Amino acid sequence: MLMLRRPVDPDWASRVTRRLDELLVDHAHLERKAATTAIHLEKYRELYPQVHVLNRIAIEELQHFEQVLSILEKHGWSFGQPQRSEWITGMMRGVRQGRRESAIDHLVVCALIEGRSCEKFQCLARHLADPEPALSNFYQSLVESEGNHYATYLIMAREIDLAETDARLDWFLDLDAELMAHRHDLCILH
Ligand SMILES: [Fe+2]
Ligand SMILES: [Fe+2]
Repeated sequence: MLMLRRPVDPDWASRVTRRLDELLVDHAHLERKAATTAIHLEKYRELYPQVHVLNRIAIEELQHFEQVLSILEKHGWSFGQPQRSEWITGMMRGVRQGRRESAIDHLVVCALIEGRSCEKFQCLARHLADPEPALSNFYQSLVESEGNHYATYLIMAREIDLAETDARLDWFLDLDAELMAHRHDLCILH
């Protein structure tokens, strides 16, 4: 499905699960931002016909947000401050100005965030299978949904302009690979 040019580091899951409380707080914010982003995309004229699809994505992301909050509460961990992701900031910096350009780029970046989440949830499901089977099952349960969001956003961008979307996807895939090469020590998803 994904044509990522740099796979996640083999030790990534063991690094970010050192502090599961921090990782889950970050994940909660990621789902919250995914929900608001889906609604935010509805501002683009090109996406008016997609308003119901975007609302459905926002509702699914809110449900994921609620699920992560429940896991935090079950462990006695509180919802807290979000941490800044250099990868997401770097990807968003690549979004061009201009309504139509911005709509296409924003959809491509959203697709890649969903795609990377999909890849990383699979890593977490594998890594946590033995020590945290319930959490591992939870991550596995999200893989399909985030994979569908990846495909939906990419299709939406291609419906605006196929050739331009594929050219921008190529550009953002290089940027993603470059940003993924920068290691950090934070227990965050991206
Ligand atoms: Fe989600
Ligand atoms: Fe998603």
